[in-house]
Amino acid sequence: MKKLKMGVIGAGKISEVLHIPNIYFSEYAELVSIADPNEERLRYFRTKYFNLKTYKNYEEMLKNEDVEAVVVAVPNSLHAEISLKALKSGKHVLVEKPMATSSKEAMKMIDTAKDHKKVLMVNHSQRFFPHHQKAKEIIEAGLIGEVRVVKTMFSHSGPENWSPNASWFFQKEKAFFGVLGDLGVHKIDLIRYLTNLDFTKCFAQMARLEKAGNVEDTASAILELSNGGIATLDVNWITKGLEENYIVVYGDKGTLKVGQTDPTKIDIYISKPVSFHGEIKLKPLFTNEDPYWKLPVIDHFAKVCLGMEEPIVKPEDGYIAIKVIERLIESSEKGRLVHIEE
Ligand SMILES: NC(=O)c1ccc[n+]([C@@H]2O[C@H](COP(=O)([O-])OP(=O)(O)OC[C@H]3O[C@@H](n4cnc5c(N)ncnc54)[C@H](O)[C@@H]3O)[C@@H](O)[C@H]2O)c1
Repeated sequence: MKKLKMGVIGAGKISEVLHIPNIYFSEYAELVSIADPNEERLRYFRTKYFNLKTYKNYEEMLKNEDVEAVVVAVPNSLHAEISLKALKSGKHVLVEKPMATSSKEAMKMIDTAKDHKKVLMVNHSQRFFPHHQKAKEIIEAGLIGEVRVVKTMFSHSGPENWSPNASWFFQKEKAFFGVLGDLGVHKIDLIRYLTNLDFTKCFAQMARLEKAGNVEDTASAILELSNGGIATLDVNWITKGLEENYIVVYGDKGTLKVGQTDPTKIDIYISKPVSFHGEIKLKPLFTNEDPYWKLPVIDHFAKVCLGMEEPIVKPEDGYIAIKVIERLIESSEKGRLVHIEE
């Protein structure tokens, strides 16, 4: 079977734990090359993966006609610039979240992908967690009824404990967004994915409570859903001693908790038509036996590029997530409620 020939731009932490191993072991993709200005990272991957071509300058890789698609996994401020160059060079693009640093940039990426007839997908990786796919199935089957309230939380001790040399996460000129763009963007997108609802209004409060730098490390928001329901979002990089990463969906017949009581569990509580509490236990994403994230993002992206599947994440989803974050920032700065479409 034909495999999609892929290159990875940015050989940092997410490429190490997700993109590079998943391309390498994919039935649908082939790892051709990686690009990163950091020679030490290139050397590390050359010793780990056989026959890997490496580039210090990603533009050289884009000239390589062997590469049909690239992953863009670099600091946020470079997402749009590099994706645009890759699309214009005739490559399909899987870009990391947040897709860009503004909705205007994101729209330009969408238009460029259309003009060049290339696939543009955003790695909203939470859509691919088996827990979330199962939760979507349960909600769409009507088990918890109509969605009324959604509560989301994503917090840990900070990106310095994820990618130790990545000080860029705290610098506005490189990251543009703080924790809202890092963790908030995941839950904003996940709420839309699980409920099939959009956001209409929001109110947010952001703060930099602990981290050095010039971006927010903490944010809370209340959002109105398009059916009149309410969603809340809590994200921070100041959580000590644990990571919290969950969503609770309250419907008019029941409640679904994904990862709240245990990261590997879905709890379902139903009160109508009969009272019921069940749980679904899923395999953790990352274990000692699987020292990388076994998420089907790469296989799915490759299948979309090869014309075998329809995309689970459309570039417009990435655009909407950024637009909502822009509105949350505006709300926090102005200290008032903001309409999403203004
Ligand atoms: N989807 C997810 O679940 C998820 C998880 C973590 C991070 N991310 C995203 O992935 C992106 C990268 O994050 P990370 O944690 O891997 O950061 P990182 O700092 O560990 O890696 C970034 C890499 O980009 C390289 N780089 C910088 N400029 C470059 C250029 N011009 N060309 C090529 N490479 C360049 C750096 O040398 C570094 O190796 C961020 O946008 C982040 O938000 C997504």
